[in-house]
Amino acid sequence: MTITRTQVAIIGGGPSGLLLSQLLHRQGIDTVVLERQSRDYVLGRIRAGVLEQGFVQLMREAGCATRMEAEGEQHHGFMIAHQGRMDRVDLQGSANGASVMVYGQTEVTRDLYDARDEMGGEVVHLAENVRLHELTSQHPYVTYEKDGGTHRVDCDFVVGADGFHGVSRKSIPSDVLCEYEKIYPFGWLGVLSNTPPAASELIYARHERGFALCSLRSQVLSRYYIQVPLTDRAEDWSDEAFWSELKKRLPQQVADGLETGPSIEKSIAPLRSFVAEPMRYGNLFLAGDAAHIVPPTGAKGLNSAASDIHYLYQGFLAHYQKGDSAGLENYSQKALARVWKAERFSWWMTNLLHRFPEMSKTDLRLQCADLDYLFSSEAAQASLAENYVGLPY
Ligand code: APR
Ligand code: PHB
Repeated sequence: MTITRTQVAIIGGGPSGLLLSQLLHRQGIDTVVLERQSRDYVLGRIRAGVLEQGFVQLMREAGCATRMEAEGEQHHGFMIAHQGRMDRVDLQGSANGASVMVYGQTEVTRDLYDARDEMGGEVVHLAENVRLHELTSQHPYVTYEKDGGTHRVDCDFVVGADGFHGVSRKSIPSDVLCEYEKIYPFGWLGVLSNTPPAASELIYARHERGFALCSLRSQVLSRYYIQVPLTDRAEDWSDEAFWSELKKRLPQQVADGLETGPSIEKSIAPLRSFVAEPMRYGNLFLAGDAAHIVPPTGAKGLNSAASDIHYLYQGFLAHYQKGDSAGLENYSQKALARVWKAERFSWWMTNLLHRFPEMSKTDLRLQCADLDYLFSSEAAQASLAENYVGLPY
């Protein structure tokens, strides 16, 4: 068995783990990232593409924002199509000039990997059977298997950034951990296509046939979603069937102008709200999808991971540079306070725009009333806008 040492062992080489590793390394704090997949596998994942300003700022602080600022698009609003009309949510006007950055999460992850390479950051891929040990002692350690051998990493702290299916959350005793979950009775069928976007801004569509979303990655790469039953499989949807159904759910003028093309990626994602409390156990800290999941409607997945990383980064900085551990002590409480607001917003926006099975005619009228109130009230639009651009850290 090889034995090495680091200050912060990070499980998971997705956006959360990489961003924290990069931020800490730039402050001279030693980390190692243990990722069970290959880099190509991680970079092959297609995820969301709307970044809050807080995330953009963290990427700047990490020295990873150059390509994002060159290729990303600042968006100052988005459209909601409903009841035969299209209304614009003016983020800039309703949220004190705020905006969001439209830039693919796959590109974020690529930029983070490139930055780790540039700094000689240690990211171990194909790290199998990761196990966390002695988490409540002053000498926690992590073991993993690779190349036929077992390896041990002694550390001060472990950060579980290993996503919903990772090992970290499961390393917290069941009598300590409390999990909250809501499963939605539908999924999102997503398609990526090398076609120009349907419009200059995102279009969220509420339709009697089901929800649809027109998004983008660039002016030549578009991302579309339609709500589908949980029983559907991506392979059951031809490109033609997808485009036809999407157009039925969009306003006529948008559908008429939609440029279709072959799908270069097609997948169905289930929707769930999930939170695990606490986000700390001994010297283990959970971050990102390891601790919480949101339905993608409000684009809060990566953005709620970002605030976890911000709080952890500040907590480790104070601990190592000033001997002040208050930030680490109140990490879980502080992170959860913002996570739950992101959960609320994502749940609200999902209920506002989706067609739930078994909705009564009363439920449908109440949904329309919610939309009518939203677009007749500046206060309601300001509330939506401040949540969409991101609540303060
Ligand atoms: N050992 C090592 N690595 C693991 C293990 C394990 N047991 N289990 C999972 N991982 C890795 C996964 O392969 C993945 O690369 O942890 C990483 C977790 O990354 P994400 O699931 O992307 O989660 P996170 O980094 O928190 O990102 C949060 O980005 O990926 C999106 O939907 C996600 O929007 C959310 C945001
Ligand atoms: C995306 O571009 O993938 C996207 C955008 C906004 C959302 C969800 C997904 O709310």
